[in-house]
Amino acid sequence: MNNPTRFRPIFLVVRFIVPLALVLGLFGYAVMPLMDSFTTRWAVRDLDTRSTSLASALQEPLRDYIPQKSGKRIEQLFNRAIQDERLYALGFCDPSGKLLYATATYPKALGCWKRPAGKDAALVQLPQGAVHLAESELMQDGVSLGRLVLVHDMSFIERRSADTRKYIFGFFALLALAVSLVTVLIAHLSWRGWISGVKELLRGELRPRANAAAAGPADAADAHPLADELRALLHEYRQEQQDESGPAGEWTADTLKQLLQNDLAGDEVLVVSNREPYIHNATPAGIEVKRPASGLVTAVEAVMRACSGTWIAHGAGSADHETVDSQDHVAVPPEHPSYTLRRVWLSEEEEQGYYYGFANEGLWPLCHIAHVRPVFRSSDWEQYVKVNQRFADAVIAEAKSDNPVVLVQDYHFALLPRMVRAALPKATIITFWHIPWPNSESFGICPWREEIIDGLLGSTIVGFHTPFHRKNFLDTVDRYLESRIEPEASTVSYGGELTQVQRYPISIAWPDPEDGALDVTACRAKVRHALGLPDGHLLGIGVDRFDYTKGIIERFQAVERMLEIEPALVGKFTFVQIAAPTRSALDEYQNFEARVRAQVDRINAKYGSGTYAPIILKAEHHGQAQITEYFRASEVCMVTSLHDGMNLVSKEFIAARDDEQGVLILSQFTGAARELHEALIINPYHVEEGATALRNALLMPPIEQAERMRSMRRRVKDFNVYRWAGKMLQDAARLRQRARVMSKIHMIRAHGKPRRVA
Ligand code: F6P
Repeated sequence: MNNPTRFRPIFLVVRFIVPLALVLGLFGYAVMPLMDSFTTRWAVRDLDTRSTSLASALQEPLRDYIPQKSGKRIEQLFNRAIQDERLYALGFCDPSGKLLYATATYPKALGCWKRPAGKDAALVQLPQGAVHLAESELMQDGVSLGRLVLVHDMSFIERRSADTRKYIFGFFALLALAVSLVTVLIAHLSWRGWISGVKELLRGELRPRANAAAAGPADAADAHPLADELRALLHEYRQEQQDESGPAGEWTADTLKQLLQNDLAGDEVLVVSNREPYIHNATPAGIEVKRPASGLVTAVEAVMRACSGTWIAHGAGSADHETVDSQDHVAVPPEHPSYTLRRVWLSEEEEQGYYYGFANEGLWPLCHIAHVRPVFRSSDWEQYVKVNQRFADAVIAEAKSDNPVVLVQDYHFALLPRMVRAALPKATIITFWHIPWPNSESFGICPWREEIIDGLLGSTIVGFHTPFHRKNFLDTVDRYLESRIEPEASTVSYGGELTQVQRYPISIAWPDPEDGALDVTACRAKVRHALGLPDGHLLGIGVDRFDYTKGIIERFQAVERMLEIEPALVGKFTFVQIAAPTRSALDEYQNFEARVRAQVDRINAKYGSGTYAPIILKAEHHGQAQITEYFRASEVCMVTSLHDGMNLVSKEFIAARDDEQGVLILSQFTGAARELHEALIINPYHVEEGATALRNALLMPPIEQAERMRSMRRRVKDFNVYRWAGKMLQDAARLRQRARVMSKIHMIRAHGKPRRVA
């Protein structure tokens, strides 16, 4: 089998040696002429000195032989002198410039050579090769007897140059080899060291060792953030793999029921949320039941139908009092009751401080990056604490055992887990934070940040939609509380208790094909007819609570720009925005609604004509069946939240499109964008991007729509709300089992006999 790591040394050698050899080769090539010139200069200087000393040695005998014209002796003297292999020839010229005596080797072409002015010697190229020429004047009693010409052979310099070149080449080759080997060795050792270091970090074995202690504790401390990052990454990777592989088979309401029976021994389930799943309102026509516009309710209601149990929530409907029994219970869903709704009553002052004040003017803007400043008032905080205690008391009162499974929903109840834990230490408390968790610095502006984190850490499990929010939470805990965090296991040890912090992306229950539900063709006709639009008119749809986090203004800017760049669609395209009224008692929401309305009027005035309006704003509550009809009737659904935990509307749109048509435009700042990759993902702040996506969606060929939609439908169907709840309950069951084993071990240790060692 191919093992890539086996080839690493070869890759290393090739990667280091080849470039090194090339660089050194080029360097050698460049220095060679320089070395040649040095060698020549050095040899010439050497010959200059030799010529001077030779000339002075020959002068003495020549002073005798020249006046005597003793040719024989001069010849013998010269022939003896040229025995030196480098001295090639000698000649003697009289003062008139006539060559009187010369060795047989003396080149005739030289004649009586005279040195150039200002120089003692010169290099001359002769047919037989380069020679070095020097002359020395022979003087006697102040009278010149003539000049001695010394001719040195330069061929030895060429030989020396060639030798030097060979040595240099050899030297650089050896140097390249040595440097490469050392580099490869160091790289290899460092790589192994680094890898084993990383393995240690990941195994959590990073402790100051003996020699590390010498380097100082700061070194080990410095490495901790890296270790934590790596372990957290590893955790994330493993969790994603687990999620992808998932438990075998499809997750349904029945699977969830079985899980409760088998893994949690049928333990009772208690849900706590602020918003109730069914609101009874008094109307002139009698009492009406309404399902609120809330992703939380959509998801958790499906789970409760499957698990039964009790859901504790604020009774906010005008006829809620009238519909409960003496224990404030009402069986729901009204058509097929399968669980109990327990209503908790709040005074106006409590609702104002806890819900509108601390939860929605403080925590909501704090956790969403939507550029609205959070407001924190002590009076709101007092109500928040009080109401959390009220709901905690309700949980404790509803619990039929000392170890119920309590599913706490959202930011309204950050303190409740700790309160319930104090009364029911064995309870399994799973808290799910449905909105984003900001980074630790942003969260730090909350005056009661420690209390909030402490409250949440009363939970067995704290869940978030995305890894970012989970990580932000862990960073916040790390920053503001004395605790121990295990990033790989994703647990927090605090006050002797362990809390698992996980990511559980929420989803919806995949709809059953309902009897009597209208198909896509019928929905298209019905909706267009209701809106007074012709068949074939293109429709876009947005469904949200009327909230400033939903990016409604940005969405309309994109619609406006799209009509600008695609004028052919003016009169042929309408965007319908369903905006369910929400928190309208707050100034921020009233101002937002006013801005949206003004924007709609402006765009409609600009592009509308006659009965045609490019944007239809429906700021009223719509039932789920009606919303499904809009989803089925539309070409495109826009979800442009500026920041959102998950955004279940995007998944509901996909679930509604059983014709595998329709395009989803999805903000990159939603949790859903991490799962629904086949949507057109946009940055809602970028008007052009939104406009282009809208135009592309409206012009997208049906075959491409089908490809995208099919893939997203598969994902949402598989990763449904039962899997979401199931994963949390499975993790809870595991933790409960572990806690039981640990408590047995403690009991045995405390009361049992010491074991005999065999
Ligand atoms: O999902 C966030 C959330 O605040 C839920 O907690 C809530 O049910 C939903 O949005 C609707 O908000 P509200 O209950 O304040 O109307």
